[in-house]
This record gives sequence, structure tokens and C-alpha cells, in this order.
Amino acid sequence: MITVHIASIAALTFLIGSSCSEAPAEAGTAADSEGQSKGAAPQYEGSVLYGRFCLSCHGETGIGDGVSATMLTIKPRDFTAGIFKFRSVVEGLPTDADLARTIAKGIGGTEMSAYETLPPEAIDALVQHVKSLTVGNIEVADEEEAQELPGLVEVIEDKGTFYARVNWFELRGSGAPLVVGTPPKPTAEMVARGKELFEGIAACVTCHGKEGRGDGDAGKDLKDDWGFSITPRNFTEDILKGGDDLQDIYQRIMLGIPGTPMPASAELLGGPDDAWAIVYYVQKLRRKLYIPK
Ligand code: HEC
Ligand code: HEC
Repeated sequence: MITVHIASIAALTFLIGSSCSEAPAEAGTAADSEGQSKGAAPQYEGSVLYGRFCLSCHGETGIGDGVSATMLTIKPRDFTAGIFKFRSVVEGLPTDADLARTIAKGIGGTEMSAYETLPPEAIDALVQHVKSLTVGNIEVADEEEAQELPGLVEVIEDKGTFYARVNWFELRGSGAPLVVGTPPKPTAEMVARGKELFEGIAACVTCHGKEGRGDGDAGKDLKDDWGFSITPRNFTEDILKGGDDLQDIYQRIMLGIPGTPMPASAELLGGPDDAWAIVYYVQKLRRKLYIPK
């Protein structure tokens, strides 16, 4: 059970305006500490906030090896791999707004809780700190090739092989946003079309099963890109990770969940009509569909 970080949100006040890496021992002693600029805009240090709220799971360098990580079935993200699940863009890495949303709303059904009580400026500082931790190696031919890479941190040579250490966000950036319009009014015909696609060409049934219980044959023994076991969502029981709005479900279906076997169906489905039809069929399986008269 990890409850520590929830209780510690109240302690945030200690971190405001403090540039040292440890929280002051007592509140209300600001007058004692020299050089404290009263009335100045609060400063949020991403690294300090990260140490307070995130490090216990994601680890100092963001590799996902915090002390609590071993206790968790769903492991904290290893940021150094540069793969993120929840994004609003067709290609590349999530936008700052996507990351801010994940931090504020948490990830449903996992130990990653919602930090929405933090001020937006604090969340922004955390977003930038998380991005700064997304550093990993790629093999390159030589030093010259490495120097041309955006986001280069350093070049490493190991037994004649060259590696560029790069920041994934600077290297890859975020692509164009997926346009998600207003959901159309659901109709019985749309739901029937959704079922047809779910069980047919879109092949959702192969992993999620006919009733959406996550028990399809192709959904057994799956692994994610970090090497951990993963199961297709059971729509009848599980909370959704990427949000519960119709638009969230639309995004997940169209863009997939990077780092997992959950495929992107944007190309397969073409236009939005079929995608919304599947969204409503998923909602039906989740017993959350309401068709207005
Ligand atoms: C109690 C453990 C825990 C703490 C504390 C925690 N996280 Fe997480 N975090 C997780 C887990 C578990 C996942 C992976 C969930 C999954 O893959 O389904 C995750 C995933 C993430 C992701 C990846 C989202 C994506 O799109 O792939 C980000 C970003 C993130 N956490 C940021 C943070 C930040 C910032 C903090 C501190 C404010 C924090 N986390 C605190 C457990 C934690
Ligand atoms: C190859 C197996 C596979 C196929 C095919 C597949 N999924 Fe998934 N799906 C998964 C896995 C695995 C997850 C869980 C990912 C995770 O937990 O991060 C998932 C998660 C989901 C989620 C949950 C999103 C969230 O925010 O929690 C939805 C909704 C979903 N799938 C819908 C669909 C639909 C609709 C289709 C067909 C268009 C489909 N899936 C096809 C494996 C699959």
C-alpha cells in the first residue's frame, strides 16, 4: 500500500519559494531564514517536487526503480526508454499538456495517483523535470553522426562502438494532434456498426474477448515494451487508464497505447464515424451507454 505521497501533498507549502533540496523543518519560520524574498512569485523546482512526490516510484534517474517499485504489480514508468502511453498526437511523444494531464489526473487502476491538488505551475515544473530525465542511448556510426542529433547529451565510445546519449523529447518531439471532434449522438445503428467492427475487421475481439472481459486468445501472455506482463483491459470491471471521457476512449482507439500491444486503429478505420461507433460499443460493453430518445 502506497499512501505516503497523498498525505505529503500538504507538505508542498514547504517547498514553495524554497530553493534548497530539503524542505524547511518548520512552517512559519520564514523570517529566520536569510535571503527569503517575501512577496516574490512562488518558485517551483521540478527536481525538488519530483524528489518529494515521484522519486519513491520512478527513481532518482527516472528509470522506474524507486523503493516502492518492487511492491507494485503495474510497474512505474521507466522514463529513460522514451516511450509514453497517453498522448493526443498522431506521432512522437506526448505534448506538455498531455503529460500535465497524466500527472494531474493520475493513471486509473494503477498506483499512479492524481496530483491535481498541486498548482498548475508545480505540475508544469514536474513535466519539465520528467522530460529532462528521458535520456537514453542510440548506436551511431561515429562521433560526427552523433553531433548532428538534436538533444545530444554526450557521445560514449565502448569497444569501438559509438553511442549518442540523447534526450528523447528533443530528438523526437511531438507530432500533429489527432483531431477529436464532438462525439455524435449515439444511435442503435452506430452501436450495431461498432459491434460489427469490434468483432470483425478491427479485431478488438481477439484480445478483449466477445464480452469485453479481456479474455481473447490473442490477449494471453502479452508483454509490454519494458518486458512486463500486461493484460487487455476488461471493460466490464477495470477502470480506464487514459481517462473516462468519450474523447479519451476515441484517442486510445485511434492512437493505440504505445509500449503495449494495444494497436492504433486510425489508418484501419479511416474516418471518425467508425471510430465513434466502436467507442459507443466499448461503452456498451462497459455498461455505460445511454442512447437518448
Ligand atoms: C506510487 C507509485 C507512483 C508514484 C509516487 C508516481 N507514479 Fe508515475 N507512474 C506510476 C505507475 C505504476 C505508472 C505506469 C502506469 C501504467 O503503465 O499503466 C506511472 C506512469 C507515469 C507516467 C507515464 C505516463 C505515460 O503516458 O506513459 C508519467 C509521466 C508519470 N508516471 C509521472 C509521475 C510524476 C510526475 C509523479 C510525481 C508527481 C509520479 N509519476 C508519481 C507510479 C507512480
Ligand atoms: C493485440 C491485443 C489488442 C488488440 C487487438 C486490441 N487491444 Fe485494446 N488493449 C490491449 C491491451 C494490452 C490494453 C492495456 C494497455 C495498458 O494497460 O496499458 C488495451 C487497452 C484498451 C483500452 C483501455 C484504454 C484505457 O485508457 O485504459 C481500450 C478502450 C481498448 N483497449 C480498446 C480496444 C479496441 C476498441 C480495440 C479494437 C479497435 C482494441 N482495443 C484492440 C490489447 C489489445
